[in-house]
Amino acid sequence: MLDTWTRIDTLGDHVGKTVTLKGWLYNKRSSGKICFLLLRDGTGIVQMVMSQSDVPAGIYDSYHELTPESSIEATGVVKEDKRAPGGYEIGLSDLKIVSIAEEYPITPKEHGADFLLQRRHLWLRSRRQQAIMRIRAELIRAIQDFFDQQGFMRLDAPIFSPSNCEGASTLFSVPYFDHGEAYLTQSGQLYAEAGAFALGRVYTFGPTFRAEKSKTRRHLTEFWMIEPELTFADLDDIMDLAEDLISFFMERVLQNRAADLETLERDIESLRKIRRPFVRMTYDEALEQLKRIGGGPEWGQDLGATDETLLSSQYDRPLLIHRYPLQAKAFYMKPDPTDRRLTLNMDVLAPEGYGEIIGGSQREDDLDSLVSRMEEEGIPKEPLEWYVDLRRYGSVPHSGFGLGLERTISWICGLKHVREAIPFPRLMDRFYP
Ligand code: 4AD
Ligand code: MG
Repeated sequence: MLDTWTRIDTLGDHVGKTVTLKGWLYNKRSSGKICFLLLRDGTGIVQMVMSQSDVPAGIYDSYHELTPESSIEATGVVKEDKRAPGGYEIGLSDLKIVSIAEEYPITPKEHGADFLLQRRHLWLRSRRQQAIMRIRAELIRAIQDFFDQQGFMRLDAPIFSPSNCEGASTLFSVPYFDHGEAYLTQSGQLYAEAGAFALGRVYTFGPTFRAEKSKTRRHLTEFWMIEPELTFADLDDIMDLAEDLISFFMERVLQNRAADLETLERDIESLRKIRRPFVRMTYDEALEQLKRIGGGPEWGQDLGATDETLLSSQYDRPLLIHRYPLQAKAFYMKPDPTDRRLTLNMDVLAPEGYGEIIGGSQREDDLDSLVSRMEEEGIPKEPLEWYVDLRRYGSVPHSGFGLGLERTISWICGLKHVREAIPFPRLMDRFYP
């Protein structure tokens, strides 16, 4: 039964009572007739004190057998202790060894990234990685709550896909029975558009895949994306929505995961500043500003990672850049009717140099314009016939965006590399374990 033993995060409800805890030995030390065992169970870490006079000799001696990460069951009285980590301590009366661990490869000394990634299945047990995973789970919950409260319905997009959506150069292909190649989806957006025409406001939330041949700190080959899609909505609507979403989840993470942010030694003050309104500027204004601070691409090019870092580190709030050159962006984006060299899109750059966390746009809703844009870009029409259909049967103005989950976690947690933001990262040069 799940509730015959106590989780460390609920010890506050059991002060003065005897409880049984189950978990793994995090650390131990002894001083003469008293020994201290640190137990972790996934919900927290607690110090357990065992004195020779309180337990049978056999049990006290088992202290010597215990190795780091051995699994144990422990029974004792919960005591409040302000000095103890977590605020509580256990006075042990019984201890059972479940399994003695072999010599644990991850020690408190510094290890290199490759060493740790090769042992990701064990590395996840560290305090720091646990904190990141808890923040990830909190963020996912907050995002779902936000969309549910705003009247969006979750609609799942397929992973096997007959076409590309974000450019042919980053496609993973898989043999698909007698049908030739299927592709792992780069984005759920096109399906979200179909869903929005059926249900009004939807969001997809799932893994997406990019065969990115770049080893940067921002790129995974498998990452999770949240993609809201709204009918009867324009670029301004999704810029507002993006601001609301980010403000909402930041407040939630600060409220519920402050202890984990502390474990990560994250500068919490800079996260508290993330409130509406964010900074907005056009691509042209961004280029002017970049020129002043010594960067920027030729007009027409997308902003590179260095430019994004340079720009976003000028502000302590997220930066929304809108109306990029059409030629730099995807085929489904709607041109700006006031200047057709531009597109009605926006990217959100996180502050502190974390770069793009959101990409989105108003969609091309006109049948002929969409078809001619696809022809210009050399996009095969047949696998996307269904998508073009949406413009045949009651087309409406609609818009949406995609938030990269791991990039957002990297920013919130202050990570140097996005690979720590996902339980088992998939990178160009790694898919083990
Ligand atoms: O800007 P992107 O490519 O936009 C889309 O895929 C649109 N279809 C979204 C939409 O309008 N529904 O990707 C969106 C976000 C990026 O801003 C970034 O946060 C993240 O997805 N992302 C990646 N994250 C990790 N590794 C990668 N290789 C990523 N590529 C994109
Ligand atoms: Mg983008």
